[in-house]
Amino acid sequence: MTDSYAKSAPFIDPLIAGFWQQVGHSLAAELRRLSALSGPVIDLGAGAGRGTRIAAAALPEARLLAVEPSAAMRTALLARLMDDPPLAARTTVVAEGAMEFPFPERVRAVLAVNMIGHLTPDERRSLWARIAARLDPGGIVVVNNPPPTVPAAVPRVASPVVRVGAYDYRGWSEAEPAGDQSVVWHMAYETLHQGRVVARVDVDYDWWVVTDEELRAEWAACALSSRTLGDSDVHLLGRRTS
Ligand SMILES: C[S@@+](CC[C@H](N)C(=O)[O-])C[C@H]1O[C@@H](n2cnc3c(N)ncnc32)[C@H](O)[C@@H]1O
Repeated sequence: MTDSYAKSAPFIDPLIAGFWQQVGHSLAAELRRLSALSGPVIDLGAGAGRGTRIAAAALPEARLLAVEPSAAMRTALLARLMDDPPLAARTTVVAEGAMEFPFPERVRAVLAVNMIGHLTPDERRSLWARIAARLDPGGIVVVNNPPPTVPAAVPRVASPVVRVGAYDYRGWSEAEPAGDQSVVWHMAYETLHQGRVVARVDVDYDWWVVTDEELRAEWAACALSSRTLGDSDVHLLGRRTS
């Protein structure tokens, strides 16, 4: 399997920080409600570990499994863990994709954030079934479904600029339909100095799209209920009680 993140890895953490700043506080509040449960927190496609770190802070006694198939992203993830010895002591980094990862018997929470489009529809449906079988009755699954949710073209747009030292980092994204259930994201990651582009990396990601309505039907088929986190595109799933 080719790893699109091999080239983009240096840019992911700076450019995804804004997303986590927006949802981190309310997500942490949801996770804190799980303090009476046991079982680990699983972060699928953990990337550089921002979600892992939020879950760890919300649940200070929980073990964490950060599942990340990209060696380049694991480099950032392990660097984040090694800078925080207590976090490193309870976080295991698993070098696998979500479909290969053997879920433990009972899990407290699963994060699948900014990654679900990497799974084919069959893989995605199979993932819900595997999670539903292992999720603690009081546990939650955190999933976001960023647009587009149908195979539509998305015009080129720039991310906010993030400054690190004297350089700025910026991502450009643009999507085009690729079949009836997927798009291709064309990304350009730029490094700027005093407004001038000094380096640029181009990366394409295949991304499977699904509407929220279709997702809710997939979850219902696995006896998972859902609600949204505030006004975000983040869904919180739990096991249906009746
Ligand atoms: C956009 S990044 C998001 C990282 C992190 N979840 C976050 O929100 O900060 C997507 C991540 O999904 C990972 N990924 C790709 N295919 C995957 C798969 N089949 N299973 C699990 N993770 C996958 C990538 O390696 C990458 O680290």
